[in-house]
Amino acid sequence: MNREWKGSVNGSQQNKNSEYLLKCEDISHSFDYPLFNNVSLSLKPKESIAILGVSGSGKSSLLHILSTLLKPNKGRVYIKNKNIYNLKDDEKLKLRREEIGIIFQSHYLFNGFSVYENIELSSILTKRPIDKNLLKIFNIENVLNKKVTQLSGGQQQRVSLARVLTKKPKIIFADEPTGNLDNKTAKDVIESVFKYIDLKNAALFLVTHDKDLAEKCDKIYRLKEAKLIREK
Ligand SMILES: Nc1ncnc2c1ncn2[C@@H]1O[C@H](COP(=O)(O)OP(=O)(O)OP(=O)(O)O)[C@@H](O)[C@H]1O
Ligand SMILES: [Mg+2]
Repeated sequence: MNREWKGSVNGSQQNKNSEYLLKCEDISHSFDYPLFNNVSLSLKPKESIAILGVSGSGKSSLLHILSTLLKPNKGRVYIKNKNIYNLKDDEKLKLRREEIGIIFQSHYLFNGFSVYENIELSSILTKRPIDKNLLKIFNIENVLNKKVTQLSGGQQQRVSLARVLTKKPKIIFADEPTGNLDNKTAKDVIESVFKYIDLKNAALFLVTHDKDLAEKCDKIYRLKEAKLIREK
């Protein structure tokens, strides 16, 4: 109960024992073949990490492991000092719902719903008001009444981002969030995400193929030959 964030609106509250928001130690995972071994990294408030790597190197799998969705074969993941794979299911769900925002490689919007309803759902679930500013930032104000299926891929991605940020998450996990956007829009969108993490003392874990985009992050890693190699 008292572990909840009380809307870090001005960014001044800095929990003493939350020096990092995310930390993983010695993560190894394999499906049909070993994906990666002994991966460790950490993410502090206002920090961003980019993960590069060829298709199939395990970037999305790592993102899933760090964001509570996939238990690794080996290793530990801590979100705000909690070992997430030791939590009970309901505690994990609460953490996922309230403190984590995930933007998937392919969007998970509700197709039968309008844009507004998709965002409203997130607002209801997390009891956080819809931020009109977000709708403006992502330039989706004029498509609020359209069904998701009536939108372009880029619009869908921007709605996904607006929906996730409506939750006011502490850690944003984004898997190729700008894959469907032209360069200019991609830049604008990602700038908004950086502004958000700075303002809210949040953090960003970004999977991307785009080297320029990765350069905007504080740290860059590459998944290569089953290892996570630091490049910046
Ligand atoms: N749930 C699963 N069950 C079995 N194998 C899986 C599963 N998820 C991923 N894999 C396999 O793990 C490997 C890494 O997949 P992953 O999606 O993590 O790669 P990626 O680096 O994100 O690739 P891309 O850049 O194409 O998105 C692939 O060979 C994939 O087939
Ligand atoms: Mg992927």
